[in-house]
Amino acid sequence: MTEPQWLEAWSVEEGARRVDELFTSSFDGSPEGVWSAPGRVNLIGEHTDYNAGLCLPTALPHRTFIALRPREDDRVRLVSAQAEGVWEANLSDIAPGTRGWGAYVAGVAWALAEAGHKVGGFDAAVDSCVPFGAGLSSSAALEAAVAVALDAVAGLGLAGSDTGRTELVAVTRRAENEIAGAPTGGLDQSASLRCREGHALLLDFRPGLSALESGVPVPFDLDTAGLTLLVVDTKAEHSHVDGEYGARRAACERAAKLLGLDSLREIAPALGGMGIDRALAELEPHDADGVLRRRVRHVVSEIDRTARFANLVREGRAADVGPFMLASHASMRDDYEISCRELDLVVDTAMAAGALGARMTGGGFGGSAIALVNQADVDTVAQAVADAFADAGLTAPVFLLAPPSAPAA
Ligand code: GLA
Repeated sequence: MTEPQWLEAWSVEEGARRVDELFTSSFDGSPEGVWSAPGRVNLIGEHTDYNAGLCLPTALPHRTFIALRPREDDRVRLVSAQAEGVWEANLSDIAPGTRGWGAYVAGVAWALAEAGHKVGGFDAAVDSCVPFGAGLSSSAALEAAVAVALDAVAGLGLAGSDTGRTELVAVTRRAENEIAGAPTGGLDQSASLRCREGHALLLDFRPGLSALESGVPVPFDLDTAGLTLLVVDTKAEHSHVDGEYGARRAACERAAKLLGLDSLREIAPALGGMGIDRALAELEPHDADGVLRRRVRHVVSEIDRTARFANLVREGRAADVGPFMLASHASMRDDYEISCRELDLVVDTAMAAGALGARMTGGGFGGSAIALVNQADVDTVAQAVADAFADAGLTAPVFLLAPPSAPAA
């Protein structure tokens, strides 16, 4: 028996105390305030965001904290409990290609300025209990924490409404896409800024929707249903992640273009589309190895599963979503080809130990899996997964509990 390792979330007081201390010991005086933002898990709807599709994330109780004080000049000075030294730059020098972890922070200030908001330099201290490289959106948590902090000190008032938060999503996404250079699709920033406690958030990435239409909170009361969402950070890291993510995205764009569509979402008959069978038939002559068709089949089926999953949750039938989680995992393993041995092991072991459903979550190629588990079975499932990893000679996984939590604030 291997003792399962748990990663507890800090309370808001604990996180605030940490960054306040780090700020005062690194810079003269006190911060103007402390802000924080959560990591996320995606319940279902993977690699659908950049296909104008649906996603259904919840916010983690694990958050990234930032203590910040504006400066008179345009200098940015940053310290982090997770990094050595001080990261420094002038805002006027921030541009695509800016290097280091500070790019995620300064990039948000850059993107706010690009959107026409007046922001100056600042000193800031950062600390986080969102695990890095675990597929739980630690970078979006950092960007969202910076966004609400700058929103407050610059008096922009965007964080006060969901419409304003949707603007902050666009800003943080530009920081990630253009300054940090990761071609991600917006799920993570939307989750960190727009999720609500006790709710999942049904995101619709079709262009041109209002905030009201693009993010619909769906009550997701796990406690009343006697359920727990268990997250397993497999600790599996795959160095080629960025290239593979970009390759998946490029395949989707190529398939859409061959079909004469702006996005794969438009295949849906409900939106007047041609339907999956005709789409696959039309792709066949261009797709000798079948890769494009597998990618398209994942995206189209995943969007459909996400809609059905959300409907079940809406009807208070969270205990019935398990088969959709399993079908989603199989689709990512076989058609999208983004799973790995560790993720498959979590899913298979959790199911054998009594989970109602399980799947990998996030970008894939390592990172985390989630399992929906009856509260009484949480320890049994965690134990089974810890033992299976030990038996396979794998690095011990880390377990997190994920009640749907509050957004950036
Ligand atoms: C990563 C990206 C998101 C999304 C997911 C897959 O988390 O940052 O934009 O594409 O992968 O669903």
